Amino acid sequence: MGVNIRGRSFLTLLDYSPAEIRYLLDLAAEFKRLKAAGVEHKWLSGKQVVLLFEKTSTRTRCAFEVGARDLGMGVTFLDPGSSQMGKKESLADTAKVLGRMYDGIEYRGFKQSVVEDLAKYSGVPVWNGLTDDFHPTQMLADMLTVREEFGELRGRKLTFFGDARNNVANSLMVVCSKLGMHYCACGPKDLMPADWLVEKCRAVAEETGAVIEMTDDPAQGAKDCDVAYTDIWLSMGEPAELWAKRIEMLLPYQVNRELMAMAKPNAIFLHCLPSFHDRETTIGEEIYQKFGLPAMEVTDDVFLGKQARQFDEAENRMHTIKAVMYATLK
Ligand code: CP
Repeated sequence: MGVNIRGRSFLTLLDYSPAEIRYLLDLAAEFKRLKAAGVEHKWLSGKQVVLLFEKTSTRTRCAFEVGARDLGMGVTFLDPGSSQMGKKESLADTAKVLGRMYDGIEYRGFKQSVVEDLAKYSGVPVWNGLTDDFHPTQMLADMLTVREEFGELRGRKLTFFGDARNNVANSLMVVCSKLGMHYCACGPKDLMPADWLVEKCRAVAEETGAVIEMTDDPAQGAKDCDVAYTDIWLSMGEPAELWAKRIEMLLPYQVNRELMAMAKPNAIFLHCLPSFHDRETTIGEEIYQKFGLPAMEVTDDVFLGKQARQFDEAENRMHTIKAVMYATLK
């Protein structure tokens, strides 16, 4: 029987089967082909979506907006200052109202429970655009990018270097386990994923043939690695006072030329972005002035080098988010 996820929310990839994830990747590849060929695909014409952002965004917001418009839908963007949610109106009431007006809701914010409650009370598909725990739409873009590079995903080793318990790293562990890949969490022992999530992913891995590895040794993380992945060292919502501690903990896991040289020769570099790879941002310059570091989680030579695929990955946010909206709303 074919895959059908119409009417479903997209809150975490733990809720999705390997076949459903592969279906979304295939659909995204088709949307990418249509867009490149200039073929109109307003297949959801007449529908309306709302995007709720309690945190800032470039890629996720733009991917949802462009994706929705390409599919022929109307889009409303709400930031924390422009809705009553949580201040004058409860989450449940807001969800019920939005569900009466919109066909789908995107949410980016803090607790995973908020996106789950939106889905529970709205009665329409809700898409997680990032919470403190998970970033599932990012994963589809990442996997599409890896698949474009290597073809088959099964057996490929993807190593996340850094804070291995942040929302991106958590989600990478989930998606790699679902797709039969070798996931390596490489970072300090104190920044490893939660036991409950590791146990869940290991149970999935038993079914799919995936491997889940944890190490605090960067050389071990880089060994046989096909995809070197990193993210900024302080997640959205964490206080700036943590920079000194994080730099001290994570500098050994910086993705630089020496680390890439220990990976497979044809390995690629991925980053969900934004990135502190130079001094061209306010924070990047402040960190340089305070700690003397010209780059943090990835050095400029790797970021600008031949193995870097982060801008393909960023473009793929749009194609994959379009696939999620289409498959759940069609
Ligand atoms: N990777 C990502 O989610 O980017 P934004 O924060 O810009 O949406």
